[in-house]
Amino acid sequence: MARVLLIPGDGIGPEVIPAAARVLGSLGLDLQFEEAPAGFACFQACGEALPSETLERARRADAVLFGACASPSGEVAGYSSPILDLRRKLNLYANLRPVKSLPGPVSRPGIDFLIVRENSEGLYSGRERREGETAIAERVITRGASSRIARVACQQAMLRASGRATPPSLTVVHKANVLRVSDGLFRQCVLEVAREYPGLLVRELLVDTAALRILQAPQTFDVLVTTNLFGDILSDEASGLIGGLGVAPSANLGEGTPLFEPVHGAGLDIAGKGIADPVGAMLSGAMLLEHLGESSSARRLRSAVEATLEAGICTPDLGGTAGTEEFTSAVCGSLVG
Ligand code: IPM
Ligand code: MN
Repeated sequence: MARVLLIPGDGIGPEVIPAAARVLGSLGLDLQFEEAPAGFACFQACGEALPSETLERARRADAVLFGACASPSGEVAGYSSPILDLRRKLNLYANLRPVKSLPGPVSRPGIDFLIVRENSEGLYSGRERREGETAIAERVITRGASSRIARVACQQAMLRASGRATPPSLTVVHKANVLRVSDGLFRQCVLEVAREYPGLLVRELLVDTAALRILQAPQTFDVLVTTNLFGDILSDEASGLIGGLGVAPSANLGEGTPLFEPVHGAGLDIAGKGIADPVGAMLSGAMLLEHLGESSSARRLRSAVEATLEAGICTPDLGGTAGTEEFTSAVCGSLVG
């Protein structure tokens, strides 16, 4: 039996996470779901964005399925983003963000790549300060974290290519022409690690060029590896190729309990309306199953989501009229039928 901790969080999180849990629950696996609070509403109610009880339960679980948390732009005394804290405290240093075509008119065809985002440092190091009228953010790049994420990316590239006709390929995305020291080190570490993988094709792109190539020639990418903020930005951009943020899943992996979450945020503008797209959360659920070793159930889940989209049932972000509930029932129906 696997224990899955649900942390719905804020905004549309409490709409899409139960939807994903319902689909996961209908696969007939031995999963035990628990739920724990975190987020801005939780902070307002109890003074803590990530209660220590929630963190402890996350540590004890086999996997976490996380929804979204409101992240205000600007300082709120005592508040820090629970997802950033979870990534840090569970040492989830790798963020895997697959971008794969879906059925339906809003997704472009033939796309299947993976963004491997460094998840522990870069501009997310938390070293930001004011010195009078100057604001400084330190972008920390270490050999340790760069080589570690490079290894994850190379392994993913090899894994994806096994049983495939075309060779594995890795694109290192950086800005070493300007950030010569920090991205210089990142680039060097990735290129060094990549040499350990025979047959792996390696190329590099500056992040601005990568942003353009993702739009112009998304079918040419296999695995991309990049630093934290670049990965954050490029993954939002890339989701636009396959239907938008509502459908993009992710996995946070590292030392502690693996955590799966849709790439989208709290969606406060549509929260409470019952129209949130649960595809990103459901596909994150499929990644969770994959991680638990339930590959065939993961495939079934993804196929059921695809079949539902194929039938033209989708939420308004994809041009449809279905609500979250209706879409979820259709996916469950497709699993049974
Ligand atoms: C993401 C989100 C988070 C991030 C926010 C909510 C802190 O944008 O998971 O991509 O910046 O990592
Ligand atoms: Mn983001």
